[in-house]
Amino acid sequence: ALTEEDLRQLPEDGIDPENPGQYQGLLEDLQGNILKGHGRDYSVHLFLQFQPDRTQEVKQWIQNFAQTYLKSAKQQSDEALRYRQEKVSGGVFANLFLSRYGYEYLEIEPYQIPTDQPFRLGMKNENIRTALGDPKIETWETGFQNQIHALVLIADDDIISLLQIVNRETQQIRQIADIIHREDGFILRNQTGQIIEHFGFVDGVSQPLFLKRDIVSAGINDCGFSQWDSRAALDIVLVKDPNGKTEDSYGSYLVYRKLEQNVKAFRQDQEQLAKNLKIKDELAGALIVGRFYDGTPVTLSDMPTFSNMPTNNFNYEHDSAATKCPFHAHIRKTNPRGDTGKVESSPGFDEALEVERTHRIARRAVSYGTHDHRQEPEKDSGLLFLCFQADIENQFNFMQIRWANARNFVQVNVGPDPLIGQPEGTQKWPGIWGQPETVDYNFKLWVNMKGGEYFFTPSISFLKNIA
Ligand code: HEM
Repeated sequence: ALTEEDLRQLPEDGIDPENPGQYQGLLEDLQGNILKGHGRDYSVHLFLQFQPDRTQEVKQWIQNFAQTYLKSAKQQSDEALRYRQEKVSGGVFANLFLSRYGYEYLEIEPYQIPTDQPFRLGMKNENIRTALGDPKIETWETGFQNQIHALVLIADDDIISLLQIVNRETQQIRQIADIIHREDGFILRNQTGQIIEHFGFVDGVSQPLFLKRDIVSAGINDCGFSQWDSRAALDIVLVKDPNGKTEDSYGSYLVYRKLEQNVKAFRQDQEQLAKNLKIKDELAGALIVGRFYDGTPVTLSDMPTFSNMPTNNFNYEHDSAATKCPFHAHIRKTNPRGDTGKVESSPGFDEALEVERTHRIARRAVSYGTHDHRQEPEKDSGLLFLCFQADIENQFNFMQIRWANARNFVQVNVGPDPLIGQPEGTQKWPGIWGQPETVDYNFKLWVNMKGGEYFFTPSISFLKNIA
């Protein structure tokens, strides 16, 4: 069996699913999408509430679903390889996630329910809600106001075949559960084919990397990890599955949040900000996000560079006063790349950086709503934010509460993250890029949280043997 040490130490080049060595058992029993996004263009998310007193039938359905659809990390990688070599599509991909209420419904003993505190409390818990700064539950979409037992994610590149499978599976599910909510997601792209979100910025660039292929390719395209090491050990996303049937059964906590984006108002606010600072719209956008529309980091450049592979090998060492990339910029708030080691109370740069890096999350978001962000939707479009981690309190919650929402991170009066910080507030914006003078501006919050929940991603051996 793998030891804690094996999870803490990443092999130099990452884990190679084609040559997994001691990680073979782990990869075969771990659900896909955690160590690397499933990459399918379309995905359907079904939120289930199991019918009262049907525990045995529900277990039977879970077992059948797991046997038919779930894909392990190993299978996901094997299929990707086949696609690269023979252009054979991997076809349908699926995940099954359980909330704490799901575990209770399934009559899992309390000591065998994953122990993470926010997971146990649920996202509707009043302390969690107020700490995250989320709107009142009554304002969430009604589906999310219900108690959610499970989330089923089904994804495919072929939308027709996806909808057929979802229709078929929906009929099965209706025998044992109410589908209290459904979200249809997709990958939004710009004209050059890059993945973007509805405000129009390239997304999914900076991720913790676990697998050899990703690490080698970052080494080639981004000249390695000299300025920022995006490699990560398994222990930032994986924990032992207390119900797994193999010695290397692992799972991961999933945070799910529906985040509506008001694109029209965002644009107007961005234009106003640009006017106040007497700069171009595109630079104002970069001061909000930390990257230009095309992904160019604003700490490196005051204009987009139109590279088709935006760099992630950078840090803020030469911008420690934040005159180029403000401390409040979304990507600097959510990944300070060493900033915490520069403040006075810090124990020392290296220690601080190491702690900082434990807060990283594996983002797996997709878009929902209109497929054309240039229509500037005011509502009903946005991000289905999903992220994996080993410890919700220390990762997603920490990032949202202690960094994005905090007015005084990484120093006093920085203000909240203008993209996701709740509540909104005033930030300090560089009057001239690279110069210390700042202008106060309250960039309003154009992302609206519509509901969500915390889940666990159980090992495949647990789900396949649950009945
Ligand atoms: C990066 C947009 C919500 C955490 C980014 C990037 C964009 C973006 C454009 C830059 C591309 C990249 O580096 O991958 C958005 C939008 C959101 C949203 C539009 C809401 C609608 C969130 C939330 C969190 C989050 C809720 C977590 C609390 C991150 C992290 C990065 C990132 C960790 C990478 C930072 C880095 O390593 O440099 N986001 N995001 N985002 N976002 Fe978000």
